Amino acid sequence: MSLLEVKDLHTSFFTDAGEVKAVNGVSFFLDRGKVLGIVGESGSGKSVTAYSIMQILAPTGRIVSGSIKLDGQELVGAGEKVMRDVRGNKISIIFQDPMTSLNPTYTIGHQLIEAITLHTNRSKEEAWDRAVEMLRLVNINEPEKRMKQYPHEHSGGMRQRIMIAMALACEPDILIADEPTTALDVTIQAQILELMQKLQEEMGMAIIMITHDLGVVAQMCDEIVVMYAGSYCERGTAEEIFYNPRHEYTKGLLRSIPTLSSMGQRLQPITGTPIDLLNLPEGCPVAPRCDAAMKRCIHEAPESMDINDFHKASCWMNVKDVFEHGKLTDADKLKGRSATRAADAGAKPVASDDGAVEALVEGAEKAKAKTTRAGGTRKKKTVPAKEPGAKTRRNTKKGGDDA
Ligand SMILES: Nc1ncnc2c1ncn2[C@@H]1O[C@H](COP(=O)(O)OP(=O)(O)OP(=O)(O)O)[C@@H](O)[C@H]1O
Ligand code: SF4
Ligand SMILES: [Mg+2]
Repeated sequence: MSLLEVKDLHTSFFTDAGEVKAVNGVSFFLDRGKVLGIVGESGSGKSVTAYSIMQILAPTGRIVSGSIKLDGQELVGAGEKVMRDVRGNKISIIFQDPMTSLNPTYTIGHQLIEAITLHTNRSKEEAWDRAVEMLRLVNINEPEKRMKQYPHEHSGGMRQRIMIAMALACEPDILIADEPTTALDVTIQAQILELMQKLQEEMGMAIIMITHDLGVVAQMCDEIVVMYAGSYCERGTAEEIFYNPRHEYTKGLLRSIPTLSSMGQRLQPITGTPIDLLNLPEGCPVAPRCDAAMKRCIHEAPESMDINDFHKASCWMNVKDVFEHGKLTDADKLKGRSATRAADAGAKPVASDDGAVEALVEGAEKAKAKTTRAGGTRKKKTVPAKEPGAKTRRNTKKGGDDA
């Protein structure tokens, strides 16, 4: 059983203009100690997916259907009492903009202590010690002094570290990081990502990393979900998504990344604009922007197909041969795997040919190494399951400057 299992999640906002189907059938799972990347362009439903898991949607938003299981416990419909325990204690979130998440009128210490006392049984004094410890862990110098200061007295990088400290203070099983570095410059971005990786290894927690940056994903993630128009196009191990993409939209994303071999040439952006979520089409939502679109794509939304044990994709291209040479049966669609095998012969991996992945970050190699297969079976990074109440903490080395 995975730590978190999201199945066919549908979340809508009921506005004056109509029902905005922001999340429209997302499924994925997250194992203990793993990093899952949710990637997609602006408006694809990444944040709403995260807010649905935390059940912190705007008043007009509602989970319409689907299932979110945390350690086997159903969260959809579980009620506010259960969710209060989940938020902060079991799942924490770092929001997109640290400035809007920190209250400018309270000191850093006040806000950290409030978060800790709210989610744990610690007294105020114990919470102070814990807050100082957490600030130190995220490489904030002179933490005792910082506790008495206000958010505006800190740089953007420091505020983001404080947000991370706040999110980690209650040692959650899952940390959701919603574009944690978008507002920061490149050098600070790298430092924050490195810090998150270090903390993840030390604390053994799982992370959902939400981003539109494939470089971040390649550097950090074990598993990837590619989202478009509230659904997932493709999901699988980082190795599969980067080296064997099986959705035209993912291929487009990979083609839009600068590579060494493409220097001096024009990049290939994905043309067109995202779809109107008030009027989702009956066919594939990517069709208006897809050079490979076929008749079928306009009229029928592709099913999720098993490419292999570590990879699913919702793109008719994977069964093109089957319906070119005969009618696609319902059994083909559901099984996907048998159908995709037929298409395998002619399929060419996009990224591995042009070096796009290698050009992302050296971390791509790390992503590959994490998911190497031996004799057809995937070698899993072994992460010890946490005993209830026991937190894994290893190798608490310190270092680095405040940013
Ligand atoms: N309160 C709301 N009312 C109506 N629609 C909303 C609301 N919040 C989000 N949406 C819509 O839901 C869709 C998904 O939004 P979401 O914030 O999840 O996108 P995102 O993938 O996180 O994008 P970004 O990369 O810009 O953060 C968007 O079309 C957005 O306009
Ligand atoms: S299903 Fe069709 S339109 Fe959609 S991404 Fe695949 S080829 Fe393009
Ligand atoms: Mg967002």
